[in-house]
Amino acid sequence: MAKLELRDLNKTYTPTSVPVKDLSLSVEEGEFLTLLGPSGCGKSTILRLIAGLEQPTRGQVMIQGRNVSSLEPGERNIAMVFQSYALYPHMTVHENIASGLKLRKLADSDIQQRIAETAKFLGLEDLLDRKPSQLSGGQRQRVAVARALVRRPDVFLLDEPLSNLDALLRERVRAELKQLFSAQKAPVVYVTHDQTEAMTLSTKVAVLYDGNLQQLDTPQRIYTLPANQFVAGFIGSPQMNLLTVPCQGDYALLDEMKIPLSAGARGQSKVVLGIRPEHVRLSELEDLNSIQGTIYLVENLGMHNLLSVRLKNQPPETLRVLLPTEQTWSGETINLSLSVEHVHWFDANSGKRL
Ligand SMILES: Nc1ncnc2c1ncn2[C@@H]1O[C@H](COP(=O)(O)OP(=O)(O)O)[C@@H](O)[C@H]1O
Ligand SMILES: [Mg+2]
Repeated sequence: MAKLELRDLNKTYTPTSVPVKDLSLSVEEGEFLTLLGPSGCGKSTILRLIAGLEQPTRGQVMIQGRNVSSLEPGERNIAMVFQSYALYPHMTVHENIASGLKLRKLADSDIQQRIAETAKFLGLEDLLDRKPSQLSGGQRQRVAVARALVRRPDVFLLDEPLSNLDALLRERVRAELKQLFSAQKAPVVYVTHDQTEAMTLSTKVAVLYDGNLQQLDTPQRIYTLPANQFVAGFIGSPQMNLLTVPCQGDYALLDEMKIPLSAGARGQSKVVLGIRPEHVRLSELEDLNSIQGTIYLVENLGMHNLLSVRLKNQPPETLRVLLPTEQTWSGETINLSLSVEHVHWFDANSGKRL
């Protein structure tokens, strides 16, 4: 039985504002599911529906096989960590961590023991008497996580919990969260617009766009087998090149370069060709199956240069290419070929993977 299951969950505010469109998915024990998508795509609304802070227009939230849709938030045994942390400013760290437990009417000795364990686990022992205003951003974040952990809930919900931290701290806390939650049995539903967080933390990722589930898969499969053009363009940095190209027989044509179509892509008059910048290669001038282009921008990313190359096709399009920084570039005309086994094909109208 799934720990958490959403059945045809829908939230309609107005006919033009439908942030959750008949979403069905399940999360098992020990799983870490990330809801990933651009701002405004409905991620927080989904969490709020699971938590009971919003009522669905249609559909059900099931926890351990039980329909909790009509239960109040306090009756669902769910713990939520908000982006703002939502700590009580007038309470100490100890009182903040205890607040969720007091509401649940636990015995005082139980409460003290759980807080001591959790504070030790998260390295908060020396901070228990401080107020939130006397803590750094990273420490506040940890108190918010402690307040969730101490509850021992059936499901953890986290809404962009790292977005208020600076880049270095975010990387460290991300690793901490991964360790912390991999030791928990209760499943996690984590919301972010940051693909690195989604890729590094999750056992499964749900990519959302405009209230619709685009793909639900492991991070690896989302990256290597994107289900459609949206996922292909959203996952991966630098972004995948996506070019609309004509087809001829079993090949797509990019200027004079012929690229063999996948079985599913044959028979179309045009298709969208997807290729990641790391899968474009420099090739020799005498390589007949290559395309020429002129470099018009070089971005140094440390280990690699990201070259923007204007192709000789008509109308001219840009191909972005990732190359090691050993070689320096400026404005040359170069020859490029594609690593054929890494080409993705998408339907030119629906955007679906072919
Ligand atoms: N109370 C509301 N009334 C009408 N529209 C709302 C309400 N709350 C959220 N929305 C809309 O729902 C959409 C999704 O919001 P949200 O779930 O917060 O997105 P995300 O967390 O992915 O950034 C947004 O377009 C937002 O404007
Ligand atoms: Mg949000």
